[in-house]
This record gives sequence, C-alpha cells and structure tokens, in this order.
Amino acid sequence: MTPLLVANWKMHGDKDFVARFARAWRAPPGVDVVICPSWGYLDCAVSAFAGRGVRFGVQTTASEPSGAFTGENAAEMARDLGAAFAVVGHSERRQMFGETDAVVAKKFRAAGRAGLTPILCVGENRTERLAGNAEQVVRGQLDAVARAAGPDALRDAVIAYEPVWAIGTGETATPAQAQSMHAAIRGALPNGGRAARVLYGGSVKAANAARIFAEPDVDGALVGGASLDANEFAAICLAAMASPSATGA
Ligand code: PGA
Repeated sequence: MTPLLVANWKMHGDKDFVARFARAWRAPPGVDVVICPSWGYLDCAVSAFAGRGVRFGVQTTASEPSGAFTGENAAEMARDLGAAFAVVGHSERRQMFGETDAVVAKKFRAAGRAGLTPILCVGENRTERLAGNAEQVVRGQLDAVARAAGPDALRDAVIAYEPVWAIGTGETATPAQAQSMHAAIRGALPNGGRAARVLYGGSVKAANAARIFAEPDVDGALVGGASLDANEFAAICLAAMASPSATGA
C-alpha cells in the first residue's frame, strides 16, 4: 500500500512561508503527500505547488454546504479551491472547539458530500489510556461516525490514530502501542480495513519515523510540528517510503 503522509500546518504560516516551503520541497517518490494549510492559505498553497504531485486538505470544515453561518467554510468551498481531503475530528477541534462525536460525524458526512476524502482523527487522552480504556474510546469514536454515515463509509477511509497525550508533546506512542491500536482500528472497519489507510499522528519526526513505520498496520502519518520544515517533512516521507509495508518486505 502506498504510504500517505499528511502535513497538518495548523494555524501557522503566511504567504512567504508557503513560497519558501514550496521552493525547498523535494517530493519523495512512492508516497502520497497531502498538505493541509490553514484555510486562508489554501489557494496560495495550491498555486505554489502546482504540478508537484502534492494534494491538499483542510483542517476542518463546516457541516453545512452554504448559508448564514458567519465565519464558517464549507467542504464544497475547499473542493472549489483545490482541496481533495478534509481532516475531521482533530483532537484540538474536539477539545478546544467543543466538537462532539455527533459534530464530527456531521463533518465527516459533509466532506464526503463535497467529494473530499475525510481524514478521521481518533485517539484517547492520557487518563483514558492509564485507565485501560484507550481501545474502547477509539472504538466509540469510530462507531459514532459509522452510525451517522453508514458502516460502508469507513470501508476505504483514512483514519488517523492520534493519542492526545502524544500531540505536540514530544512523546510518541511506542511502536508496539501504535501497532496494537492500528490493528484494533483496522479490525473494526468493514472488510477488515483492507482498503483503509490507518495513519499515526503525535510527535512524529524524522528521528522516530522509521521505527513507527516499521509496524505492519501503520500506513503513514499525520504530522504537525515537524511538517513545518520542508526538509524534515521530506525525511519523514522517505522513512515511510522505505518502510516494510511500502516496499512489500
Ligand atoms: P504533532 O501534531 O506532530 O505536532 O504532535 C500532530 C497533529 O496534531 O496532527
């Protein structure tokens, strides 16, 4: 399976950053790359990377297609601006912007309605992990979407497992923790998740990427902080390209 690497730039960057990143970017072969700039820079990023094989996503969308929703941006607008993906249910949206499982499910459906591939983020917090409930929490997050969108919606989904305690903390899940959760996620998807891609996210860097990508159920990564440096992100992509699941080893 071709690894998928998603850069989540969060609320960082400006026009100059986008231009500098695009100039420094050397596309590694054999991986699918999606860049998610903040909404305001989507158009500018699509132009800066034209013809470079990069695809684009947004970090969140509204759930409605249009209307009197001041400040919101519809999935259809992302599509119109050149995006092909939408991150849905990132833990920062769940924690800071009150996105419940029900809201996440609506946004997942909105992405599909607009022809975007949703990248559904799931993951437990530290308390839930310490209590031994990590798998149950993640299962609940997947079930909420399957109930709203229909179980088949997850057949060829992109799921990002992002343990909340590993995001932006410098602490990653161990490769064994990631593998065990990825296998559980895949097992919960229709058809054994054979057509789905399960990404890992949480403090992925060039220095730790190869160890995580060595696990058989890790199909790529959702990268935050380390994706703001073109060379660092390219090194992570190279590690994914060399992983056993990518090379079939
Ligand atoms: P991080 O963020 O790589 O900075 O931990 C990952 C994410 O939030 O998607």
